[in-house]
Amino acid sequence: MTSHVQAYRASLLHFSNDPAFDEHATQWHGDGLLIVADGKIVAAGDYSKLSASLPADCELHDYRGKIITPGFIDTHVHYPQTDIIGSPAPGLLPWLNTYTFPAERRFESGEHASEVADFFLAELLRNGTTTAAVYCTVHPQSVDAFFTRSSELNLRMVAGKCLMDRNAPDFLRDTAESGARETEELIHRWHNKGRQHYAITVRFAPTSTPAQLKLAGELATQYRDTYIQTHVAENTDEVKWVKELFPDSRSYLDVYDQYGLMRERALYAHCIWLDDADRARMAATQSVATVCPTSNLFLGSGLFDFANADKLRMPVSLATDVGGGTSFSMLQTMNELYKVGRMAGTHLAAQRMFYMATLGGARALQLEGTIGNFAAGCDADFIVLDPKATPLLARRSATTDSLEEQLFALAILADDRAIAATYSAGACVHTR
Ligand code: GUN
Ligand code: ZN
Repeated sequence: MTSHVQAYRASLLHFSNDPAFDEHATQWHGDGLLIVADGKIVAAGDYSKLSASLPADCELHDYRGKIITPGFIDTHVHYPQTDIIGSPAPGLLPWLNTYTFPAERRFESGEHASEVADFFLAELLRNGTTTAAVYCTVHPQSVDAFFTRSSELNLRMVAGKCLMDRNAPDFLRDTAESGARETEELIHRWHNKGRQHYAITVRFAPTSTPAQLKLAGELATQYRDTYIQTHVAENTDEVKWVKELFPDSRSYLDVYDQYGLMRERALYAHCIWLDDADRARMAATQSVATVCPTSNLFLGSGLFDFANADKLRMPVSLATDVGGGTSFSMLQTMNELYKVGRMAGTHLAAQRMFYMATLGGARALQLEGTIGNFAAGCDADFIVLDPKATPLLARRSATTDSLEEQLFALAILADDRAIAATYSAGACVHTR
């Protein structure tokens, strides 16, 4: 009988916990071996300890000189905005009206949606991202197109249809009832089908009536293991607008709380203009902030406050927010994250940033044990990083004195060029 065992020799990096709070969290094997069978991790450890256990007909892939990590997890990204990435506007609200809404209109066409989904997924894989929480548009066919392509590639993805029944152009509006009905149909069609997961997707409070928020909250209670994704406290003009629309709420976040939208598996993008009461509420409900540094700098939204988030143990994860975000690369996202941290007086260790992009993302999605590290039984979603991918990176990597310095150089200097290969469920889905 032929063996399905594949083995990969390289340096291995993964995490058992958040290194900011646990000094034993980083798992590093300089000369490591990753053993995979039938799309799952069998073992990860030192080559010297594990190589004797390999079956005679095992295929051994030699990636010495490279670093294998779990695939990156992007907890907030908009696939319909792929074509408008890098569009200039003076802030969030004009950017939405000038570029975003017209681009999303084109997803009325399922054919257009399929073509963009194809490109978008290939771009994620080129950048080493194997799982993402993805916004589609208001059109259910944009969700069908996305999950169809993701299923064909056997990727683990989270996605959902935008709910928006006011303060948007006619061509992008649903109604409270039609939005809830379509969401429920999509949950039945896609949630937990293979590696696909559904997210109840309230675009943001200004584009939903109280009636729509109420129905979204009811769906979130009825379908407890679905995800919830939305935006909160991104921009000061937006925060002011929410105050006018919902005068009875204590804060912007409180609008979602009042409608039953804060719980585990709820992903809140940005979380810049929160106060400590909001942060405590995020922690108490285990709702997760998705921090989007390239977007926040590009749109001039503000700086995420890491110190106060950590003080209150608010769950955090890392995200690109393409097309408000300016890069699909989680490495480039770490680069900007680090600088945002510096501006707020924080020093983020590279190991923490790599944790956020891997196990931290898996925890945000409550998928620890399924993705995010190399525990036995996890999906074999992993990437091969090349620390010599560019002349400058090679030169810098040759003079680093520690693992932290090497990872820091990758976080600051690397991008898609450093992703030598991407594997999803044990299958190679990208090579450079
Ligand atoms: N708030 C509401 N919609 C959006 C969006 O598409 N992008 C960003 N960055 N913020 C939003
Ligand atoms: Zn967004």
